Amino acid sequence: MSELSSSVPLFTRVRARSVEARNRIVISPMQQYMAGKDALPTGWHLNHLERLSIGGAGLVFTEALAVEKDGRATHADIGIWNDAQAEALKPIAEAIGRHGALPGAQLIHAGRKASVQVPWDGYQSLNAGDAARGNPPWPTVAASAIPANEGWQVPAPMTHDQIRRTCDNFAKAARRAANAGFQVLNIHGAHGYLIHSFLSPLANVRTDEYGGDLTGRMRFALEVAEAVRAEWPSHLPIFYRLSCVDDLTGGWTLDETVVLARELGARGIDVIDCSSRGLGERGTLAPGREPGYQVPYSERVRRETGLNTMTVGLIREATLANEIVASGRADWVAIGRESLYNPHWPLQAAVELGADPEYKTWPPSYGWWLSRRDRSKRTSPGKKSPGQG
Ligand SMILES: Cc1cc2nc3c(=O)[nH]c(=O)nc-3n(C[C@H](O)[C@H](O)[C@H](O)COP(=O)(O)O)c2cc1C
Repeated sequence: MSELSSSVPLFTRVRARSVEARNRIVISPMQQYMAGKDALPTGWHLNHLERLSIGGAGLVFTEALAVEKDGRATHADIGIWNDAQAEALKPIAEAIGRHGALPGAQLIHAGRKASVQVPWDGYQSLNAGDAARGNPPWPTVAASAIPANEGWQVPAPMTHDQIRRTCDNFAKAARRAANAGFQVLNIHGAHGYLIHSFLSPLANVRTDEYGGDLTGRMRFALEVAEAVRAEWPSHLPIFYRLSCVDDLTGGWTLDETVVLARELGARGIDVIDCSSRGLGERGTLAPGREPGYQVPYSERVRRETGLNTMTVGLIREATLANEIVASGRADWVAIGRESLYNPHWPLQAAVELGADPEYKTWPPSYGWWLSRRDRSKRTSPGKKSPGQG
């Protein structure tokens, strides 16, 4: 594939620390619920992520990788809590890089949203029926003993010792991700998982130094950032995904996000990945959202902190993605479900926006034919091109 030198904002190159992406498009982390034995990745993950890199994004993130066995959401999630898992992730990082995208890994502890069924089995806490089918529940932890949803498992509030060990596990997982060849890291602090459960006053009613006012509720998120920054190579960037608002009365607010983002920036976090929601019924993916519904969060965080930001959420049109970058509302634009629908979305966006009208950045096995297909659309129908069988 050729490199593109473009004046179309979405297709300008972007740097973070020592790495540079070929464009501003990111494949958002997406759980596949396809782990093999011992939470190892399978051929599915390799094919899925390699295909997305072929599709032309500048940065491709893996799904959330659990930093502890109990920090998985489901039995079908991949982990990075041991070296065998990191070893198995190496070919994935290599395959993403081979096709020109930066390989990124996301780290998670699912907290009180751990020990659940995969979405298509109901997405409830695991129960005796699941245990009988070989998927037993396990005890969950969180900031406080408040279940994520009605009828879900009640988590145990984390002790100080557990907090320290979990920070350490995030840091060790970061080191393993670097050893596996990933060049960008994303810490999952959003969507109601462990870190978010400490941030939101709706999930955190602790009376120790990890609860109470904003300083207390931010403490764990910041300690994770410090621990990871210390282990992750200093020349490589870290993204931090936040739920910028809970969208619930008494919940986490955008004002608080701005304060937290500044503190994360001071601890060496490079990009604030601006998502939202995930507590209770307020799912980040609830139906009825507008295209680009989370852009106002990245816009404000970027403006008020001076940090680079990423936006995500129902960005389906190339023109919208381009306009977000052109107007300075985000530095990086992530796409999720649209890339499941069309893994070549970034390559197509480049054609559509005029950044690559001749398909020069497509793999030649595709691009050579497609450019001629376009020419034949413009000339007389039915004319044979050379080499066409
Ligand atoms: C199948 C699926 C799995 C997801 N898994 C993750 C995940 O592992 N980590 C994460 O931060 N977000 C996850 N998300 C949220 C997406 O990264 C993204 O933020 C969300 O889908 C909104 O973007 P979209 O409208 O372009 O899909 C997932 C979404 C989907 C559809």
